Amino acid sequence: MVADLRARPARGRAADLSAESMPGPIIPLGLYVHVPWCARKCPYCDFNSQPVRGPIDWEPYVAALLPDLDLDLHLAGARPLDSIFIGGGTPSLLPGAAIRRLLTGVRERLDWSADIEITLEANPGTADAAHFAAYREAGVNRLSIGIQSFDARQLSALGRIHGPEEAVGAVLLARRAGFDNLNLDLMFGLPRQDPASALTDVEAALGLVPEHLSYYQLTVEPNTPFERSPPALPDDEVLDEIQTGGQRLLAAAGLAQYEVSAHARPGRQCRHNLNYWEFGDYLGIGAGAHAKLTLGPARVERRWRLRDPARFLARAGTPAALAGRRMLGTSDLMFEFALNALRLRNGVSAALYEARTGLPRAGLAAPLAQARSRGLVDPDTTWLRASPFGYRFLNDLVALFLDGDAPAGGLRALAAGDSAAGRFEPGLAFTDSSVNPG
Ligand SMILES: C[S@@+](CC[C@H](N)C(=O)[O-])C[C@H]1O[C@@H](n2cnc3c(N)ncnc32)[C@H](O)[C@@H]1O
Ligand code: SF4
Repeated sequence: MVADLRARPARGRAADLSAESMPGPIIPLGLYVHVPWCARKCPYCDFNSQPVRGPIDWEPYVAALLPDLDLDLHLAGARPLDSIFIGGGTPSLLPGAAIRRLLTGVRERLDWSADIEITLEANPGTADAAHFAAYREAGVNRLSIGIQSFDARQLSALGRIHGPEEAVGAVLLARRAGFDNLNLDLMFGLPRQDPASALTDVEAALGLVPEHLSYYQLTVEPNTPFERSPPALPDDEVLDEIQTGGQRLLAAAGLAQYEVSAHARPGRQCRHNLNYWEFGDYLGIGAGAHAKLTLGPARVERRWRLRDPARFLARAGTPAALAGRRMLGTSDLMFEFALNALRLRNGVSAALYEARTGLPRAGLAAPLAQARSRGLVDPDTTWLRASPFGYRFLNDLVALFLDGDAPAGGLRALAAGDSAAGRFEPGLAFTDSSVNPG
């Protein structure tokens, strides 16, 4: 039986900093849950995850997640949760009982929207029919499957724990378990990849008829084996050909690009990630998870948990589990809003800027005028949207909203041509990518 996901009255503690006290419409709220383990560490990946051998000792971790949530519950206010994203690491290493316990605990603490989206990330090498069925039963209604490629040689070069057959098998298992909303992660720009093999990957993915596809360019991240011993990656010209060709195939198959890396059928955009890009609020629990919460007009705080799972576990449920917090200043708010919103192909209304930041839209006038004079944004003054030209040079466009100099390496991940930017935590400008992958 599928869990009852209908909305119920809020059970969260009364809000001291109620979003209801904010002028305008309520800011949507999501919840990110981090699972910090993988079967094996992939040599390109710098997400916050540790390899585990054998069964995971999940019970203490799941038990710690709920007191960790309690810590920030008062910041949720009376808002219902619109989305939950269980990401990692590899959440599909967890048995159904773990996800059931987690979601039951969240449900006891927070009201849920009637149409809440609950995503869980799965690695095909861990796909298991009983797990998938139990996730669905526990209330998960969207799976995000990390396929990366259908080419056996590429999967081996990427250090993946699965081959192409398991990738296809995972999708079939997910469908059989009742999932009608699937995302597939595909990477391009793989070692020695040529356009023909990259497009074969896209066609294979389309053959599985996903509702959503995330198309990430492989990036070499600091402190990874790929950085220490870089593989031969395609040059910019080849990358451009791969990306343009891939996007064309996706669009022709009905998966429209709505964000730098994200493509979806109509109505199947990822609600959780959209909320990041539309500068909504989110709680973040578990090792290294990040949260963004609006405390009042023009008062937005980012907070993040300790990264190391053992240290997190030892302190969960106490303020010591917080590794840091930062109140955004006016210039941070403008920049971070632009950084996120401009990733969306259709941008956002200027009114959303006021609703989400609590700042007057007049503040955007100067950077927007500059951007317009360079043809980087649409001429419509009521809308914040990159022009086709601006979308190709998103780094330059977003830099116009920066007050002062960009931190070193800051905008690197943002270029529209650098689709792997989709991996960095939406909402954060330039920190490590170990957080809240979408
Ligand atoms: C948390 S993983 C997904 C679930 C699971 N851990 C897996 O890999 O199958 C999130 C996604 O980020 C992408 N990713 C990770 N590191 C990347 C990198 N260096 N460049 C591009 N994409 C990357 C992969 O597509 C991966 O599927
Ligand atoms: S890509 Fe996925 S499976 Fe590989 S190390 Fe990163 S989080 Fe783990």
